[in-house]
Amino acid sequence: MGIRFGGDYNPEQWPEEVWAEDLELMRTARVSMVTAGIFSWARVQPRPDVWDFGWFDRVMDGLAGAGIDVCLATMTASPPPWLSHAHPEMLPEDADGRRRWPGARQHYCPSSPVYRSHAVRLVEQLAARYAGHPALALWHIGNEYGCHTRQCFCEVSAADFRRWLRDRYSTVDALNAAWSTAFWSQAYGDFDEVLPPRTAPTFPNPAQQLDYLRFGDEALRACYLAEKDVLDRLSPAIPVTTNLMPQHKPVDAFAWAPHLDTMALDFYQDPHVPDDHIRAGYAFDLMRSAGGGRPWLLLEQAPGAVNWRPRNGPKPPGTMRLWSWQAVAQGADAVLFFQWRQSLGGAEKFHSAMLPHAGTDTRIFREVTALGRELAAVPEIAGTRSRADVALLADWNSWWALELDSKPSTALDLAQLTLEHYRPLFEAGVACDIVPPGRDLTGYRMVVVPHLYLLTAEDARRLTGYVRDGGRLVVSFFSGIVDAHDRVHPGGAPAPLRELLGLRVEEFWPLAAGVSVAVGGGYTGRADLWSEAIDLEGAEAVAQFTEGDLAGRPAVTRHGYGRGTAWYVGTRLEPALLRALWDDVREAAGVLPVLPGLPDGVQAAVREGAGGRFLFLLNHGGTTADVALPEPMRDALAGDAAAVERVTLAARGVAVLTAVGQGG
Ligand code: GAL
Repeated sequence: MGIRFGGDYNPEQWPEEVWAEDLELMRTARVSMVTAGIFSWARVQPRPDVWDFGWFDRVMDGLAGAGIDVCLATMTASPPPWLSHAHPEMLPEDADGRRRWPGARQHYCPSSPVYRSHAVRLVEQLAARYAGHPALALWHIGNEYGCHTRQCFCEVSAADFRRWLRDRYSTVDALNAAWSTAFWSQAYGDFDEVLPPRTAPTFPNPAQQLDYLRFGDEALRACYLAEKDVLDRLSPAIPVTTNLMPQHKPVDAFAWAPHLDTMALDFYQDPHVPDDHIRAGYAFDLMRSAGGGRPWLLLEQAPGAVNWRPRNGPKPPGTMRLWSWQAVAQGADAVLFFQWRQSLGGAEKFHSAMLPHAGTDTRIFREVTALGRELAAVPEIAGTRSRADVALLADWNSWWALELDSKPSTALDLAQLTLEHYRPLFEAGVACDIVPPGRDLTGYRMVVVPHLYLLTAEDARRLTGYVRDGGRLVVSFFSGIVDAHDRVHPGGAPAPLRELLGLRVEEFWPLAAGVSVAVGGGYTGRADLWSEAIDLEGAEAVAQFTEGDLAGRPAVTRHGYGRGTAWYVGTRLEPALLRALWDDVREAAGVLPVLPGLPDGVQAAVREGAGGRFLFLLNHGGTTADVALPEPMRDALAGDAAAVERVTLAARGVAVLTAVGQGG
């Protein structure tokens, strides 16, 4: 089957005469899969009881005839005007009670029974019609859940939230206890009194907000699952997915993963951000890890510029190829784009496409075609997997709770801080999994825990057991502070980790904007954002604050516990210091890079399996880089069988190496 290559295909934007040319050019570009029908609802169901699938049959038949597989959308991402006209109560509302009107897309309340029942009806039609179609390879439910409508606060959602709370808490007393409603006279006498956390005079109850984020995620998932039930029933042979987004707060990728037959991600690297490939690296590692290591699909990226940032840089020559191979190196079995043919009208006419307005005699089309050819030449990569010695913990519940208001500091941006924890691993060339706190950590030599504010007693025990049995753990500040209901763990912070870390945090001491403090000892440099008054209870200080209110107090600590070691970082170290600390922990843990001695800016990754063993080298740096290989290998993209011992990568260069005698 190989690595799938292609993109979103929106033929409804074009007269039928164009479709034949589409198929011909797709063949030229070696397109093997398209995602079709994402925004076709209004066209296939123009009125409540009128269905028009004839044109879409011709699209599907044409693709089948051209040997192109279809990732078939369930078409439910943008409800048609007649539906919201007849049922305005299906439109979402924000926390101020303002309605979000139709005219764009994703204008539905996720809890709306009207929306869900019409979506299910449409999916039944689609499944009945296309389940056995020769082009159908994969179902694509909805589109980027929670991308625009992240949460809805309308009356329909309120009623659904109350149902959700009754299921979760059974009694209103249990709800009151969980939400700490003794505070500010908030005790409820009945579930009927509960509302969504709409805009209030000041901070709404944090536990209520946290539950609303959980509920919001589940409401979106319920939409997905309602459609998936239909497909499981009417089209059981075809796998099902939906396209997730990177570091997307409304959608808990770990909670969704068990319901996706294959994980799928949309990722738009920003050519204006010099190291955006590190953010991509994190998202790719998360996709692979959330799917238990299975290959995943890059379902959308841009061939060039996007249209939705304030300034949309094009991808300079070679960049699209480099970033596509990065996804493959980190486990993708598909490289798809948004979209096949650039729109002439609508909100995305300035978004790049595989086939630009200017046609085939364009740099983008030439690069697309070259990439298609290249990917088609190494089909054996598909299905191979990778392994990692390091795990980084990510947890949506903790993220939601951490970023609620009324905290010691609201300057903690967890997505950003998490990337800061990931970066030193990426730059050191170390393979990394991104896992939830509930995952079995046995087998990882090193585990990194960025700001795990919400930590259940059970997960704290798991972390403690991991270190006791010989693991190396690094925990950063403001971890282990509250339980699942955002209630502080009593007994001094971080209570459930105190014994493991061998310390107590007596007071949080967040730093003002723009202020930094010096740290010294084992790590000398500057730190900002946060500090805290740490009392040692068995741990040793490996760095101290050397100025400011906390001068002389520990900033970074280490504690031998059982057969392992736990480090604690009580401030935000500047990047070079964090890198030095991570390197020391890695060394103590015996974690090696994928390839030692790599030049700066070069990424190495390995995938292995029935198809063979592949070493990917990607030069994200701006200059030519020379890489010595661990053994003579064959360059799978160069098309000759000669063994090489060194590889010279031009800026943005890519090499895929395999064993001599393998493939080719
Ligand atoms: C995605 C979306 C696509 C298209 C694309 C443009 O968020 O799924 O439909 O809008 O962005 O970058």
